[in-house]
Formats: sequence, C-alpha cells, structure tokens
Amino acid sequence: MTETTYSAVRERFNGDHHRPRYHYLPPSNWMNDPNGVIQWDGRYHLFYQYNPFGSIWGNMHWGHAVSPDLVHWQDLPIALAPTPGGADETGVFSGCAVVNDGVPTLVYTGVSGECCDNQTQNIAITRDPDLITWEKHPRNPILSEMPEITGQNQNFRDPFVWRESDGWYMLIASEIRGKGGVLFLYRSQNLLDWEYLHPFLTGDKAINGVIWECPNFFQIGDEWVLIVSAHTGHETGNVFYFVGSYENHHFTTHYEGVFDYAVLYAPLTMQDDHGRRVLFGWIRETRSRHDMQTAGWSGVQSIPRVLGVDAKHRLLMKPAPEIERIRGVHHRVDAQPLNAEIMLPVSGLHFDISAEIALNANASFTLSVAVSPDGREHTDIIYEAAAQTLTVKTTVPGIGEMLVSHERTIPHVLDDEENLTLRILLDGSVLEIIANQRTSLTHRMYPTTDSSNGLRLAGSRAILRALDLWEMPSIWQ
Ligand code: FRU
Repeated sequence: MTETTYSAVRERFNGDHHRPRYHYLPPSNWMNDPNGVIQWDGRYHLFYQYNPFGSIWGNMHWGHAVSPDLVHWQDLPIALAPTPGGADETGVFSGCAVVNDGVPTLVYTGVSGECCDNQTQNIAITRDPDLITWEKHPRNPILSEMPEITGQNQNFRDPFVWRESDGWYMLIASEIRGKGGVLFLYRSQNLLDWEYLHPFLTGDKAINGVIWECPNFFQIGDEWVLIVSAHTGHETGNVFYFVGSYENHHFTTHYEGVFDYAVLYAPLTMQDDHGRRVLFGWIRETRSRHDMQTAGWSGVQSIPRVLGVDAKHRLLMKPAPEIERIRGVHHRVDAQPLNAEIMLPVSGLHFDISAEIALNANASFTLSVAVSPDGREHTDIIYEAAAQTLTVKTTVPGIGEMLVSHERTIPHVLDDEENLTLRILLDGSVLEIIANQRTSLTHRMYPTTDSSNGLRLAGSRAILRALDLWEMPSIWQ
C-alpha cells in the first residue's frame, strides 16, 4: 500500500465518532499488542499485532508505523508475515526489538500447527535504515523446548530481551499448570543459542492470573521494574507490576501494584534517546465481535507514557509531554467549591483534561463526559474519598425507558494532605484516566450519537482547584 492508499482507507472512517483522532491505530482492521518498539536513527518505530484480513483477532502479522515525535505517525508496510511451512506459519506473535552490534533485531514468538499449540522463539534482522524489510534467521526457531515445570501447557511466548555486561538475557512468559503465571529467564552470547537459567517470578492464579504474557524488565534509577499482563484463561486480565531489586539474576519484589485494569493490556516499553522509559499499551475494544466487524477497525495504542518510580516504590506514569504540543483551544474552569451539577460550556469527544481537586473526608467528585443533550447518557469518572476509590461508569439507553450501565471501581488511595489529580485523555471511544500519576484506569465507551458529547461536573464537599481542558486535533490532517 502507498501512503495515499493508507490515507484513503483512513478517510473511509471520517464519520465514525467512536474512532480516535490523536491515538495511533492502523488504517483499518484489527490491532492488539505493541511489538518491537524502538527508537532507531532518531525515529520511533512501533510494530504491532495486526490482522490484515479483518477487524477481529486472527492471522497475526506485525504491522508497522514510524514517528518523529511520538505524536504523528506514518503507516508503513507489514514488517513480518507468517512463512508457510515455517515456525511462524500460523502467526507471528508478540516480541521485542534489540540492537545487536549495530544490527536491529526482532525476537518474537512464532506459532505453527493448529492455533496456538506450538509456540517457539524466532529472530529477524534488518540492514534497512528505515526498518521496513526484515529477514528471518535461517536457524529459526532458535528456542522451542520449554522448561519441564510448566506441566505441558502450550503457552510459551512474548520474549523480552535486554543486554547485560556478560551477555543477553531474555524473559519468556508462560504458565505452570494449576498454579498460575510464570516468567522464565534465559541467557545467550549471540541471541541464537539460549541457556535456561531459572524461573524468574512465579504468580498465583488466585491473585494474578492464570497465564502470564508480555513481560518487561528494566531499571529506573536504583529500582528494577517488572511488568506482566495476566490472562485469566478466558480473556485479558489486569496488568501487574513489581518493583524490586535484582542481584545475581534473581529478582526480589519490594512493591506490587496494578498497572491497569484489563482494558489497557500487553504494554511494551523501550528506552529512548533521552533515557526515558516509554510505554505503549494496547487499548482493547469492549464491544461485541459483531460490532467490531461492522466498525471495520479494532484496537488502539495508548498515548505513550513516560514511567518513573516514587519514593514509596510505586510506578509513576505520565503521558509523553510531546502530546501537549498539539493541544488546541484551551478552556479553564475557575477554582470553586463543588456542590451542584454544572454543565461545562464546551462540548466534544476529543480533549486532553487536567484537574486538581481537594477533598474532605466524605467528599465525592464526578466529571462526566459524553453526556447526551437529554442528560440520560453519560460516562462518569467518580472519586469517593471515604472509600478511596476511583470509578468509571458508562450509562447508555437500553430498551424502552431503561438505562444500562457498566462500571469498574478500583482502589486509589491518596497520601496524607494529597489532592486528587486527574489526567484524562478523551478521544472518541477511548478514555485514558490517570490519577495522581500512579493509578491507571483505561476505559472504552461508545456514545450512541456524536451529539452525546457534553461535559459536566458535580461533587459534594469537594473543592475544585483547577480544571483545564484542551481541544485535541486529529494527527492525520
Ligand atoms: C497478548 C497476546 C500475546 C500474544 C499475542 C497474540 O495480548 O495474547 O501473549 O503473543 O497477544 O496476538
């Protein structure tokens, strides 16, 4: 496809008010995990799990896009496709990118046979400065045996590789049957021959998922951070993180938290040229298979987040500041006590919102978006000070006079004297909510019409300190 064809495909969706404008998604069809994210020759490359044949999961390939600034993206041709008769004949699953002696190298899971029984690790390299064409290594698969303790499950995937002074290290995600998720640690001198070391971290299915997927392991300051996506066995689950220490190739956890609650999934991180740890995550749809097929697209990438760790070992996250450069018209709501409901004098489904609220012991605060003209349809972001919880709740008309709602409530504990701060990226059907830079609650909502686009504030015993809203443009114009 040429660039003109990509933009012609994108234009087909112009009237779709659910479609994000300033988040990356492919021109059409299905996307899931970010893969192989890397900054190469100054530019950010994003690869992703892609189905070129439809808007539901299947036929996994690696799609590809490139960006000069983490905000504007250019679509590129498919980077990796299944090789008939090869170790990835039924799918090119997730993986990462490393630079080996100046050569960009992808390490990924190939799937062969009946989906998805036979999972092996594979390599592709390139000498193309634009990273468009890739060559699969003749020795693929480079790792196919899984450690015995897995109890013969079929899950063995999503290699994450990093360099240490004495060689390459790799984590592979799996499951110990009947017990829970596990990550295995491997070492290699050449990225081709791998020696199994030991289980790196073992989960408990009662707490953190049945199968682990998509590990990340990296250092921020003196802390080591491990992120893992926990599949429930039926569907995507929470994304967990562990902050700890790393010595003699063993990881000890000091703090455990939830990175996001089931809508942002399979995140992948990279270190960029500024030394920042940048995370991309797949924001999945929460609508039916039929609705995804009708829409013709499915899956969105999060706005890249820059990670940190605070003094209490909690993971911090902030949308990359580059996104602020495209902010449009600014609206400010003055500081005030919140008692009654206030309809804001702005409307739209594409905003970058930042708010700070002081709360008394029993206070509550609600910001509603996607409010319909009759006020019946809305999505509420609610903080309850007594319960120390953050909720996101979508209410839409059901049959007749009925309203149907779906909601999720998660803990968000404020420190003493700490105000609630919210950063909200609203983009069509996407809602990224980050509270106090450490709690992430990603949500999808599908307003019935584009006139369900009002914003409303409400609260009791809450004092609004500041509320700023910026209209957000399309990154595709
Ligand atoms: C996570 C995941 C990965 C796998 C890929 C397949 O969403 O299930 O474990 O490699 O998606 O598309």
